[in-house]
Amino acid sequence: MRIFALSSMLIAGLAVAQSANAASIYAGHAIAASTCAQCHGVTTPSSGAPFPPLAGRDAEYLKSALKQYRDKTRVSDIMNNIAGSLSDNDIDNVAAYYSKLKP
Ligand code: HEC
Repeated sequence: MRIFALSSMLIAGLAVAQSANAASIYAGHAIAASTCAQCHGVTTPSSGAPFPPLAGRDAEYLKSALKQYRDKTRVSDIMNNIAGSLSDNDIDNVAAYYSKLKP
């Protein structure tokens, strides 16, 4: 009985840890591919483009930049529009995804 309780706690713990990590990067990839890639690139950094590259940037920086665009404390017609449609979750996910890309 005790062993059963212990192992099911362990399994539950692992499942939570795994879905928290995996879900955010996969969901972030989907957002990046559908919404951000046309300007920021998906896997290749857009060094020659007029858009700031996002790959490998600090996740906290990306999150705060997106939240500033969303509440318009940072002004950019393009990014104010795009960030305006992102939820807190979307922002966490897409920041996690870009921060994990190799620049
Ligand atoms: C239509 C083109 C376009 C799309 C699509 C776009 N961006 Fe941007 N992004 C820009 C431009 C232009 C800037 C620079 C704006 C400025 O001067 O602040 C920018 C800036 C940023 C910055 C700030 C970078 C820095 O160095 O401070 C972040 C973060 C960002 N975008 C994230 C995203 C994310 C995430 C998405 C998808 C949800 C996205 N962008 C979609 C054009 C775009």
